[in-house]
Amino acid sequence: MSAPGRPKREFSPGEEVAQRLEGSPSSAPGRPKRESSPGEEVAQRLEGSPSSAPGRPKRESSPGEEVAQRLEGSPSSAPGRPKRESSPGEEVAQRPEGSPSSAPSQPPELKASSAQVGEARLVVRPGGPAVPAPRADRLAFESWQEQHRERAEAALLRHLPPAQAEPARLHEAMHYAVLGGGKRVRALLVYAAGQACQASGPAAAAALDAAAAAVELVHAYSLVHDDLPCMDNDVLRRGLPTVHVKYDEATAMLAGDALQPLAFEALAGMPIAPALVVQATQVLAGAIGSRGMVGGQAIDLQSVGVALDLAQLETMHRLKTGALLRASVSLGAIAAGASSAARLALDQYAQAVGLAFQVVDDILDVTTDSQILGKTAGKDEAANKPTYVSLLGLEGARDFAESLRGQAHAALADLAEAARHARALARLADFVVLRTH
Ligand code: IPE
Ligand code: IPE
Ligand code: MG
Ligand code: MG
Ligand code: MG
Repeated sequence: MSAPGRPKREFSPGEEVAQRLEGSPSSAPGRPKRESSPGEEVAQRLEGSPSSAPGRPKRESSPGEEVAQRLEGSPSSAPGRPKRESSPGEEVAQRPEGSPSSAPSQPPELKASSAQVGEARLVVRPGGPAVPAPRADRLAFESWQEQHRERAEAALLRHLPPAQAEPARLHEAMHYAVLGGGKRVRALLVYAAGQACQASGPAAAAALDAAAAAVELVHAYSLVHDDLPCMDNDVLRRGLPTVHVKYDEATAMLAGDALQPLAFEALAGMPIAPALVVQATQVLAGAIGSRGMVGGQAIDLQSVGVALDLAQLETMHRLKTGALLRASVSLGAIAAGASSAARLALDQYAQAVGLAFQVVDDILDVTTDSQILGKTAGKDEAANKPTYVSLLGLEGARDFAESLRGQAHAALADLAEAARHARALARLADFVVLRTH
């Protein structure tokens, strides 16, 4: 980030935090050091051995195309395969969901946990322990994940104004907010949903890129504002000083403000039928306003020190975090021109993954240190925020996240013909729940 006009502060609070992190033995400068990539962690955990791969898994011979085909269940990889391409792991994970007779009796707190968000209602049932997906699937997913993370970042770069363009300080702050790392889960959901709906051709690919950029732009804006002193007052994000620490509060606020319309500009440019562009705009706008993400953030702030019950907590989480993840899946389906039946089935998956994401965020806040998280650990308890951990305890929260993973897999089993190439979605549900940061 070369920085004409960037203020030269010798020591901002965030830099101090970053320095502290850098000072610790294992860390890379300014970045939390990861022993292994999130994908590797997932693979290791699923396999039960730290095994294979220090470094990225080597794709035997498969360029991106092949990986994507494999995730989509290309005919060549499985002659005579069953109609749906669920992995054995998925099938086992789905069984307790699918058959009422096999479901154990629900713990009372899970019975209570359902919430109305938007038009669809998801009742969370215990999902049973998910069984590891086949190793080949997981390795293919890791390659797919890396490839699509890069694709999303390239799309983001195309949509951001140049950092040097005036007002350069604002544009530089926007670049800093958007391009400083991140798992890109929302963009990956866009791409995976698009693939599940068999998006094909250059127009659909460009629409998916635009939608992937849009959700990551909104997400980056939400993080910049979430970290502000008037919100969570955080100094560390993605292993670096937060935007208001690196720049100043007003610039951080304006950078967030400017990222949001940029997202809608990206959607408006999708080269698909105008009616679909309008639908995509409605979906994103609805997900992030006062009945979505911002509403959830408002509930979050007014809940400090308040003992929410489980239903209230679930509503808050579905809004502040789940809504954008859910919108990401919808946008992928819209960009692919999916049928409404496919979109409905995908939405069940998206709701489970969206809620699971924040449940796991709550868990990581108490189990993982700042260096690995890249953000300040222990903030929720320190700020006296109600979380799944404070309500259910650590084990209860883990069980709940696991049941949501089962729920997500079960939803994929219900996919209509038009959206059945869903392996990347299945692995993304695993990644969301099993991630380590
Ligand atoms: C963090 O989101 C904020 C929440 C909504 C919980 P992520 O964990 O997706 O953050 P990045 O993008 O990977 O940094
Ligand atoms: C953030 O939730 C939700 C949004 C940014 C909309 P958190 O406040 O829990 O996220 P972190 O833990 O700071 O990333
Ligand atoms: Mg917050
Ligand atoms: Mg926060
Ligand atoms: Mg958090």
